[in-house]
Amino acid sequence: MVAADFNQRPMEIRERVRGLYERFPYPTPTQDLNPFRQGKVAELGFLQPFYHKFWPRETFRDDLDILVAGCGSSQAARWAAAHPNSNVTGIDLSEASLKQTRALADQFHLQNLALERLSLEDSGQLNKTFDLIVSTGVLHHLPDPAAGLRALRELLRVGGVIYWMVYAPLGRDAIYYLQNFLATLGVRADRLDAADIHALQELVSHLPPSHPLWQRRQQFPDLMNQAELMDYLLHPQDRPFTITEYHELSRQCGLKVQDLFNRAHYQIPAGRMNQKLLRRWNALDEVQRLAAGEQYRAALFRHDLISCRADRPEASFRLGGDWREWIPVRAPGLQVLDGQAFWPGHAFDDIRLSLAVPMRRFLREVNDKSSVAEIQRVSGVRVNKSLLQPLVDHDYLWFRQ
Ligand SMILES: C[S@@+](CC[C@H](N)C(=O)[O-])C[C@H]1O[C@@H](n2cnc3c(N)ncnc32)[C@H](O)[C@@H]1O
Repeated sequence: MVAADFNQRPMEIRERVRGLYERFPYPTPTQDLNPFRQGKVAELGFLQPFYHKFWPRETFRDDLDILVAGCGSSQAARWAAAHPNSNVTGIDLSEASLKQTRALADQFHLQNLALERLSLEDSGQLNKTFDLIVSTGVLHHLPDPAAGLRALRELLRVGGVIYWMVYAPLGRDAIYYLQNFLATLGVRADRLDAADIHALQELVSHLPPSHPLWQRRQQFPDLMNQAELMDYLLHPQDRPFTITEYHELSRQCGLKVQDLFNRAHYQIPAGRMNQKLLRRWNALDEVQRLAAGEQYRAALFRHDLISCRADRPEASFRLGGDWREWIPVRAPGLQVLDGQAFWPGHAFDDIRLSLAVPMRRFLREVNDKSSVAEIQRVSGVRVNKSLLQPLVDHDYLWFRQ
């Protein structure tokens, strides 16, 4: 184990980040791409079923140019397997991660995947533009996140979108306490041996009951795997963003936040707050409301966001006209049991909605083809905005036109 050095320059940080992922490619790789190829698995952002989150006013197509930026050991291969009609490009700093991806591509005969060892900051060297850029778990590891954001923005077509996952601070408090503890002890990832790694696993398993990691444990299910353990505890660069900071960074880099997955993570759950306080929260603007929701839940460990270029015309992604003509799209895997709806994509089990009978009847008819007006006719439910809003706020459905 080697003492930590806190006075590093950006290139040194990037080299240390690369070093971490050369030794510990992330994530522990997927072995079988068949479920992805057969459409049996949908990751957040996959075109089927999330296409209309990105492009609510367009007809579905899957012949896109997709960049997976910071693709790690398997993400680009999963995307290529799940989207055979798209051209997928994967870039990453780590040759070891790309090697694992290449092995998957060979094993599953992926013809639509190109891989390159390239940093986000230098991604302009691709000399290509994209409809969709996916970058999950990467931005918070850059010494200068704005440099990465700006570079990717230049590769984005005017109507294109970026799906980001970035760390959020409040739900990762336990991780940062452990990172600080290990840094104080002078533990670094670059010269660990097998016994040191085992010592870290023991450290985590034997934390005292008062440690906040126990409360957060279900949010970090892979913590004991070697690659994930290093990523969580000994990362040389790990800088989370509040939702407000992320909005500000986007704005500085010529992007805007178009939408987010998991809106419910930022909502005040029904019945938990006094009406007077709730009215104040409702009176805030959209970004302030999200920011207050993040503080209220005090447990968000990631944001899953959709960005587009600041110059993308709003009319290309904001729905317009008569809302009764909009077509509701049902979230994949949405479960309704004993009158309660639950979406497994949410990180918190308390996010559930008791469905009033009209809501239940409405939801039953949502088939991703019929408009609100058509569903109203078939179901006999009188649909108004207050019936739909809770379903939207809980991410159980979204709309296309
Ligand atoms: C936590 S992993 C996430 C991998 C993948 N996106 C996923 O979600 O499974 C972070 C990845 O980003 C890569 N990375 C970190 N900094 C980078 C940079 N500046 N440019 C390109 N890739 C980078 C790392 O090598 C690593 O593979």
